[in-house]
Amino acid sequence: MKTTSSFLKMKQNKEKIAMMTAYDAPAAKLVEQAGVDLILVGDSLGMVVLGYDSTVPVTLDDMVMHTKAVKRGAKDTFVVTDFPFLSYHASIEETFQAAKRLMQEAGAHAVKLEGADELVDTILKLTNAGVPVMGHLGLMPQSVGVLGGYKVQGKDEESAAKLLKDAKAVEEAGAFALVLECVPEQVAAWVTEELKIPVMGIGAGVHTDGQVLVYHDVIGYGEGHVPKFVKKYANVSETIQTAVSSYVEEVKKEQFPQKEHSFQSEVKQVSLYGG
Ligand code: KIV
Ligand code: NA
Repeated sequence: MKTTSSFLKMKQNKEKIAMMTAYDAPAAKLVEQAGVDLILVGDSLGMVVLGYDSTVPVTLDDMVMHTKAVKRGAKDTFVVTDFPFLSYHASIEETFQAAKRLMQEAGAHAVKLEGADELVDTILKLTNAGVPVMGHLGLMPQSVGVLGGYKVQGKDEESAAKLLKDAKAVEEAGAFALVLECVPEQVAAWVTEELKIPVMGIGAGVHTDGQVLVYHDVIGYGEGHVPKFVKKYANVSETIQTAVSSYVEEVKKEQFPQKEHSFQSEVKQVSLYGG
């Protein structure tokens, strides 16, 4: 199994890192078999699995349950789990408690959190306590209410400089990797160049050390809005729709089940009265 040091080595060797989300056992197994380097149990599950319109309603219990499922499916892959909304801000005790649940109870190998500034100290404390932390900067979906929408970050000189400063601080606090979401590719390239730790991009161009995408987006499964940075490699929704419509039609027409799906017996008729 790859570890935090494998990802560092991959960056040093300029070997691209492929990361993808998964939220349940069969998806995790498929993603593992397809050769992803690490799996993210993202709080994006709030949108693509649970049907919320942001990641804000996702709870620690949700993250624990889905991490357990992913771990059952992918036994040989490094698994990172998102701290959900407001589970790592109130106090360091509460943050440790959340990390403990994600790692001890659910089996995550690492945690991911959004932000820098006052969270730099949290990253330092978690790392010192033996919790591998992945940072997340640029567009931070848990702050969508503050940002006023899902927008590209770091477009002007000032915000790009702040992004680099934050990225450096996250690295210095001990994070083993950093996700950069929705930033111009030039800015992402600049941050990637400046950091020693691997930078995983999503909507951040081709120059980052690796890429991360949401499982449902990659396979084309779901109804929600698909962002510009997504490449849909399949159309699973269409496949499911076709399969389920065929099933419904065959049930109505008594074309399903056939003999091959049914059980047979020699008994002609069973009497209710045993005679
Ligand atoms: O929740 C998630 O899936 C993420 C990735 C998009 C990086 O945080
Ligand atoms: Na997330």
